[in-house]
Amino acid sequence: MTTPTFTSRDPSAPQFWDERFEQAFTPWDRGGVPADLQAFVQNHAVQPLVTLIPGCGLGHEVAYLHAAGWDVTAIDFSPAAVMAARLLLGALGEHVCEADFFDFIPPRAVQLIYERAFLCAMPPRLWPQVVARWAELLPVGGRVAGYFFFDASPKGPPFGIDIAQLDALMTPYFEQIDDRSVPDSIAVFQGKERWQVWQRRAD
Ligand SMILES: C[S@@+](CC[C@H](N)C(=O)[O-])C[C@H]1O[C@@H](n2cnc3c(N)ncnc32)[C@H](O)[C@@H]1O
Repeated sequence: MTTPTFTSRDPSAPQFWDERFEQAFTPWDRGGVPADLQAFVQNHAVQPLVTLIPGCGLGHEVAYLHAAGWDVTAIDFSPAAVMAARLLLGALGEHVCEADFFDFIPPRAVQLIYERAFLCAMPPRLWPQVVARWAELLPVGGRVAGYFFFDASPKGPPFGIDIAQLDALMTPYFEQIDDRSVPDSIAVFQGKERWQVWQRRAD
């Protein structure tokens, strides 16, 4: 795939992502639901979780979670992303909202936040705000589960984090309860992402 020309260079602005979705340049998109999320959902089949997907992009996971009986809300601040997700999801497009994660108020109390390629889409200066907002949105026992991108290159997105830095950001609010290598990464994340689950602790 040749890289199109883009004018927006600031990934903290919706225009950056609009340009990419409008030109169908989405190299981070998996085109489906990754294995660890499927396993997580199967392990919680008796007790589906109210789930929020921040920065959902095309939102493939929405259809999967909905089919499993989960209450899912997906948000994205890029109008072009929301339009593309709704096109893909058809009737389930009603689960996708155009909203900025930092000021979105979920319709119901959230039990799970699903993370994939959202934290690493953010400039690192915003990471403390992302983690603090996760913590605000989740009750004690609530979880952030998903994929974390570890890389030393300062260039992004995707912006890689290192393990110590992620621990320092998360441990004031969360305890890590799962951490494993990923069997089915796409090329951009191959060998550099891990599936992790973090549980909200009491303040
Ligand atoms: C790299 S894409 C990942 C999309 C999707 N999670 C996936 O795995 O394919 C990052 C997404 O986050 C969205 N995003 C970035 N900052 C956001 C914010 N503050 N609020 C809501 N969405 C945001 C972008 O519009 C983009 O769709």
